[in-house]
Amino acid sequence: MKRGGLRLGVLTGGGDSPGLNAAIRAVVKKGILQHRAQCVGILDGFSGLIERRWRPLMYEDVSGILCRAGTILGTSNKGNPFHFGERGDVSAVALRHLRHLKLDALMCLGGDGTMAIADGLARRGAPVIGIPKTIDNDVAETDITFGFDTAATVAAEAVSILHATADAHRRIMVVEVMGRTAGWIGLHAGIAGGADVILLPEIPGSIARVVDHIRSRVRDRRFSIVVVAEGAGPEGIQRRSLHPGIVGTAVADRLEEAGFDSRVTVLGHLQRSAPPTPADRVLATRLGAAALDLAARGTFGHMVAIRKGRLVHVPLRRVSGRVKRVPRDHELVRAARAVGTSFGDGP
Ligand code: F6P
Repeated sequence: MKRGGLRLGVLTGGGDSPGLNAAIRAVVKKGILQHRAQCVGILDGFSGLIERRWRPLMYEDVSGILCRAGTILGTSNKGNPFHFGERGDVSAVALRHLRHLKLDALMCLGGDGTMAIADGLARRGAPVIGIPKTIDNDVAETDITFGFDTAATVAAEAVSILHATADAHRRIMVVEVMGRTAGWIGLHAGIAGGADVILLPEIPGSIARVVDHIRSRVRDRRFSIVVVAEGAGPEGIQRRSLHPGIVGTAVADRLEEAGFDSRVTVLGHLQRSAPPTPADRVLATRLGAAALDLAARGTFGHMVAIRKGRLVHVPLRRVSGRVKRVPRDHELVRAARAVGTSFGDGP
């Protein structure tokens, strides 16, 4: 251990994800208890680093936050130091502020965007360590990110619940879930909730195929449930703004046009605002604690990760610029097909 204790910075970047507070707690508590650390919380992601907004993080600050969604530090997806609005590249300012804070390590909790920024700072000599989070579960080089289990659970519950009203009204219930580029939430929620159709960004589907599938079911069933990831684009349907609901609504409209009584439910930000599940709290605590070990060893420019259930760490350069999408022949896709679920791409 460094004589005099470590100086640790912590920031959360990108969209919030259940488990962020659990990970902050793990970093700060382990830092204080095992490394006599002084901790600094950078506010609102990288924006706070550029604009000199930070505060000390004491043991009491992280007590009682394990089960809370959101992030006590605030977050932002508008604070990229390499493209900071009209000011352009202000990475030199961010690096100057890091030196001013005399940090031994900066823990960056975030998704693919945050990891790319962390990689850029690490390449310029910053002592950065990545901790992956996102409800989308699409960070490369890790099997799982915290927040995903919570979001998939919320979505699966919603899909299950909607069966009753779908059955009562003999309707098609379309459920739009998050996932602009990766369909992990839709895939898991669709399987766990018993969806009849799952539309994902990775598997191009067509409304005509969805209609065929629903018609074939209608002979013996009163209703169908269609799970649509917000980034899915069955032909002719596109997300035109950042607001959730556009793709789900368009799919429901097209099913109405095809003659089915249809309604859409848009889960939107509910999926990432629920208290973290126990699994996400455990994962966040593991990853936060593991990041401390890297800091103590002086291993920077790496991200902690889970591979085949084990804690590992990988260079940020292997993570940066990549997204982990659902392979079209993924075992879960095959399992869903095996129980009669359509992905809108075949009979
Ligand atoms: O990346 C996490 C996520 O929740 C996505 O699933 C979603 O598409 C996006 O963020 C929404 O971001 P925002 O809240 O900034 O619109």
